[in-house]
Amino acid sequence: MKYLIDPIDLSVEQINQLIDLANDIIKDSTRYQEVCKHKILATLFFEPSTRTRLSFESAMLYLGGQVLGFSEANSSSSSKGETVSDTIRVVSSYCDIIAMRHPKEGAPLVASMKSQVPLINAGDGGHNHPTQTLTDLLTIKREKGRLDHLTIGFCGDLKFGRTVHSLLKALSRYEKVKFIFISPSELKIPEYLKNDLLDAKNLEYEEVERIEDVIDQLNIIYMTRVQKERFFNEQDYIRLKDTYILDLKKLENSKKDLIIMHPLPRVNEIATEIDDDPRAKYFDQVTNGKYMRMALIMTMLGLENEVERL
Ligand code: NCD
Repeated sequence: MKYLIDPIDLSVEQINQLIDLANDIIKDSTRYQEVCKHKILATLFFEPSTRTRLSFESAMLYLGGQVLGFSEANSSSSSKGETVSDTIRVVSSYCDIIAMRHPKEGAPLVASMKSQVPLINAGDGGHNHPTQTLTDLLTIKREKGRLDHLTIGFCGDLKFGRTVHSLLKALSRYEKVKFIFISPSELKIPEYLKNDLLDAKNLEYEEVERIEDVIDQLNIIYMTRVQKERFFNEQDYIRLKDTYILDLKKLENSKKDLIIMHPLPRVNEIATEIDDDPRAKYFDQVTNGKYMRMALIMTMLGLENEVERL
């Protein structure tokens, strides 16, 4: 696998293989601690991140590899005017694999064409976030035992939230998945996803404004933060940022085995009283994210069969 830009660059079969490998790493990660010895991961983050970058770095270190990179555009030559293409050409001589985040949609795709080594999109603008999607799929599979026959509610900033766009594309390939979009009218799921994906594939979906109206139908509620950095005007952000605050009261009519997901960082969307509730899975997603990135790095380096499976 040369690059991963969009979650649907991966076939359903490849996704299953990554989930199986991640699950095997979870069983006993010590067996994997030397798989990437002498390999180097570069993390090129032109947009800030805590979790994703550290999760990539932690994954590589747990595999026995090494890491280098930068965590903001200001500390790279892009602040001198270097193009992404040139940066990637240069950095790909220094490492074996690259994880890259960029505020511009499509930048990682352009970069992948110049890279001499495998390249992973770690988030491009409001577009895609395939490694968060793989993490989410692993979490759903572990919690629900399946990726089909599910009703999932996406709640919050469905306009700018790339984790939603990405997961929606990935889940659209499984049978009988129903989507319920919960958002204020200003933050609805983009038309291009409705036309080119949901309507084109004849998928079942609904758009509503209140969590309470649909909570009883959901197997999964996927909460998201209002994406402050993608707003053109501060007043709109302030008006919309606290539209949804999930608390125990709003969960009253939920299914017993509902799971609550969030890619994090959380701002106000989930009251902290929910954190210790058995339905809350957002901190499990963080742990799963590290294991999934371990599985992905190994696979992209062609090392997925180095350790015998338990
Ligand atoms: C998300 C992202 O960067 O898109 N965070 C993450 O990678 N876990 C979600 C967000 O920033 O709201």
